[in-house]
Amino acid sequence: KSIVILVSGRGSNMQAIVEAAIPGARIAAVVSNRADAGGLAFAAGCGIETAVVDHKAYGDRAAFDHALAECIDRFRPDLVVLAGFMRVLTDAFVRRYEGRLINIHPSLLPAFPGLHTHRRALEAGVRVHGATVHFVTPALDCGPIVIQAVVPVLQDDDEARLAARVLEQEHRIYPQAVRWFVDGRLSLDGQGRVRVADDA
Ligand code: GRF
Repeated sequence: KSIVILVSGRGSNMQAIVEAAIPGARIAAVVSNRADAGGLAFAAGCGIETAVVDHKAYGDRAAFDHALAECIDRFRPDLVVLAGFMRVLTDAFVRRYEGRLINIHPSLLPAFPGLHTHRRALEAGVRVHGATVHFVTPALDCGPIVIQAVVPVLQDDDEARLAARVLEQEHRIYPQAVRWFVDGRLSLDGQGRVRVADDA
C-alpha cells in the first residue's frame, strides 16, 4: 500500500510510522505546507520523497487544497496520513480521500476537539486524557474512531509533562492504526463506526 504523510512541524508521529517499517506499507512521500518543517529533513534522510505546498502561496483554502491534492495524487496513495498537519481542510478535499484519510488528535475524542487540548484537559480537571486516531470527515476532529490510548492525568502534571506522556502513546497507536489499514482490517459498520477485524 502506498502512503502519503502530511506534516507541518516536528513530525515525530511521521517518524514513528516510518520507523515501524510496517510490512506492506510504502511511504511514498512526506508532504508539508511549511518548508521549514523539521519532519522533512528526517524523511529526506530516510530516502523518502518530500514535497512542500506552501499555503501562503494560495489565495484561499480551496486553491491550496486543490494544489495539495494534485501533489498528493502524484504518489497514488491508498492512504493519506495527517501527522501534525495544522491546516483545516476543505470538505472537497476530505471527500476526495473519503475512507483513506486519517488523523491523530491529542485527546480522547469527542472530548477536547480543536487546539490546546492538554491545557484544556488540565483546566477541566479530567483524570484521564489521551490520544485518538480517527478517519477524517468534514466536521473537525469528529470522524469515526480507529484507536485510542488512555493516559492518566497526574496530580502535579503541567501541560508539557502531560503532552509528553500523550505523545509517547501517539507514537504507539498511530503505527498500529496504519498497520490495521494496510492489512485491510478496518471497515465501517452501518452506524459509521470503525470495526477492526480479527488478525488472520
Ligand atoms: C501531535 O501531538 C498531534 O497529535 C498533534 O500535533 C502534534 C504533532 O506532533 N495533532 P508531531 O509533528 O507528530 O511531532
